[in-house]
Amino acid sequence: MKTFLIVLCVLMGVFILYKIIQNIERALCVFRFHQIPFVPSADALRRAVVQEIRTRYTNAKTVIEIGAGYGGLARQIARRTNATVYAIENMPFSFAVLKMFNFIFRTRNCIAIRADAFKYIRKMRRHIDIGIAYLGPGINDKLRPYAKKFRVLITLDAPIRGMRPARTVDLSRYGATRWNGIVWPHKLFIYEN
Ligand SMILES: C[S@@+](CC[C@H](N)C(=O)[O-])C[C@H]1O[C@@H](n2cnc3c(N)ncnc32)[C@H](O)[C@@H]1O
Repeated sequence: MKTFLIVLCVLMGVFILYKIIQNIERALCVFRFHQIPFVPSADALRRAVVQEIRTRYTNAKTVIEIGAGYGGLARQIARRTNATVYAIENMPFSFAVLKMFNFIFRTRNCIAIRADAFKYIRKMRRHIDIGIAYLGPGINDKLRPYAKKFRVLITLDAPIRGMRPARTVDLSRYGATRWNGIVWPHKLFIYEN
């Protein structure tokens, strides 16, 4: 009984610490970096992205996840396609969790990179097959100047304003994301060059 209580207290302590760090990082995202904090994408969005790559872009070799969070989507793509996935995340705690999960799940073709994704893309010399972003309305628009660096750009739930998608995939039956109180039904926006 005593051991059980000790284990329970340790687990609760770890959980509380996790929540404190997560909320500090969230506050930094919103108030300091003016970027969307980590919110995992819905399963339906992840499945749809993998399905797109497996059916339409079968020869894609490189994928960049622009703002990977804990890397759930990046690892799913790495496991289920032949591509190498570069998971870019700039926040220290999210990046540490991303690295830890990559190690635990032994996802060798998912490479975690700590960087500001926009600076990384700007400096990138080679072309990338697929870029994926779930950054929210407005922030996705910052990808517009770099669109030509990708063969395909896929944004989740919010479009890149001023660009016409080649295709959209309606996933509204699976729910929506709420950004600043506005509801964005689940949808993929697919831009091709
Ligand atoms: C909404 S979450 C998406 C997480 C993941 N892509 C998924 O689908 O589950 C957005 C993530 O992008 C990261 N992010 C936002 N702006 C970024 C930037 N400029 N550079 C790198 N990461 C960024 C945030 O820290 C956050 O973890």
